[in-house]
Amino acid sequence: MSSELTLKVRVAAVSDEAEDIRSLELVSMDGSLLPAFAAGSHIDVHLTEKIIRQYSLCNAPSERTRYVIAVLRDAQGRGGSAAVHELKVGDEILISAPRNLFELRTEGNSVLVAGGIGITPILSMAQSLAAAGRSFSMHYATRTRKRTAFLEKIRTSTFASSVSHYWSQEPDGQKLELEELLRAPKPDDHLYVCGPRHFMDSVIKTASDMGWPEGNVHYEFFTGEVVRLDSDETFNVQIASSGQSISVGPEQTVVEALAAVGIEIPTSCEQGICGTCLTRVLRGEPDHRDMFLTPEEQACNDKFLPCCSRSKSKILVLDL
Ligand code: FES
Repeated sequence: MSSELTLKVRVAAVSDEAEDIRSLELVSMDGSLLPAFAAGSHIDVHLTEKIIRQYSLCNAPSERTRYVIAVLRDAQGRGGSAAVHELKVGDEILISAPRNLFELRTEGNSVLVAGGIGITPILSMAQSLAAAGRSFSMHYATRTRKRTAFLEKIRTSTFASSVSHYWSQEPDGQKLELEELLRAPKPDDHLYVCGPRHFMDSVIKTASDMGWPEGNVHYEFFTGEVVRLDSDETFNVQIASSGQSISVGPEQTVVEALAAVGIEIPTSCEQGICGTCLTRVLRGEPDHRDMFLTPEEQACNDKFLPCCSRSKSKILVLDL
């Protein structure tokens, strides 16, 4: 499960990396080393008591004195990115210890693909692979140069020659041809992709069409979207303490269905990452769609994340 450890850190630097993208450098309050992390890790950032958001670390894992995050301001968002963009040097905030759901495999050739702000974990991976002398290529797709975060950092890095940029709206921009990039994978090739949902969907689908084994395609959704499937059906949740039964429609989350009848479950990320809404299950089989519980914890079926997970059984009895 997510680490309970919460750290107070200070914002040591704020930098505009691209249009609407700002990076923050976070350091410990007393100058001590921060908990170690591996490429692909993210931290929970407590922006207010109610707003906790997850951001990937984008610096090199060898750096123990700072964490760097970069955040795209989302005008349609729920307030997290705007709150980050308001932080100033010297502000103190709470974060969690790093957690990694997007680990690099220890072997093979890595193909790193980033779309837009999806560069954050991918950049950390590139630095980690370059430092280890491992074989990789990085493919970074954005609309324009102005919207390309870390352009200068990448250009002057030791791995610049391993990076290809794709700008869809620059007159001289190279177009990302996914079929060409992903054609004829070798058995030890591993693909890592991060970016907006539609971008990731098309990379993952093309990889599948091009014959990439599922186990060699790695990705992390940080889009604020709950996974919904066409096959989602109505089911009932029953409140153990009162016996009340509530119907959850295909378009609703359990949290939404319960809120509609006045039962509030505390939430934060609303996408199965933070664990705030963790609820005990007394009977029934949850359809786990979170990234918070480990596969072993999910298999126990005695708890679930009602902000995103559903039910495989007709009735789910909750310890509420
Ligand atoms: Fe974050 Fe449900 S609110 S996991």
